[in-house]
Amino acid sequence: MNHSRAFLAAVLVVAAAPALAESPPANPFEGNATVVAEGHSLFNDTCSHCHGPDAVTPISERNLRKLRIRYGDQMIETFHTTVENGRPEAGMPTWAGVIDEATIWKIYTYLETVQVSQ
Ligand code: HEC
Repeated sequence: MNHSRAFLAAVLVVAAAPALAESPPANPFEGNATVVAEGHSLFNDTCSHCHGPDAVTPISERNLRKLRIRYGDQMIETFHTTVENGRPEAGMPTWAGVIDEATIWKIYTYLETVQVSQ
């Protein structure tokens, strides 16, 4: 590779990096109705002691039925980041390395079906 080609390759890598970093996470089970029931029971097993059985809780900031009205188009990103990293200062555990990606997305697929509109 001559110098100008090497330079061009470097420019392309630098230009592509932010786009890759910013692409929103994608749910591999999007639209897959058959994982909803599984996601529901995973949620009740793993998350319900803080977020309420079937995601029903009187504590507003823990109400995961409000993710859509709270975050709109950012819902998927906020969900994924919050579950992976937790919010340790607020009492939300870090789940990265505790439950796998597929489990996180199955739970998300369930939660999408119980979002309230107000
Ligand atoms: C030990 C208690 C606890 C468990 C278990 C728990 N959470 Fe949380 N979670 C919290 C608390 C407390 C908050 C509210 C944090 C705040 O006030 O910002 C929260 C917030 C969240 C939020 C952000 C809500 C919002 O509207 O901003 C998401 C998403 C979430 N949890 C998903 C989950 C999922 C999915 C599970 C199961 C894998 C789970 N949590 C298990 C305590 C918990």
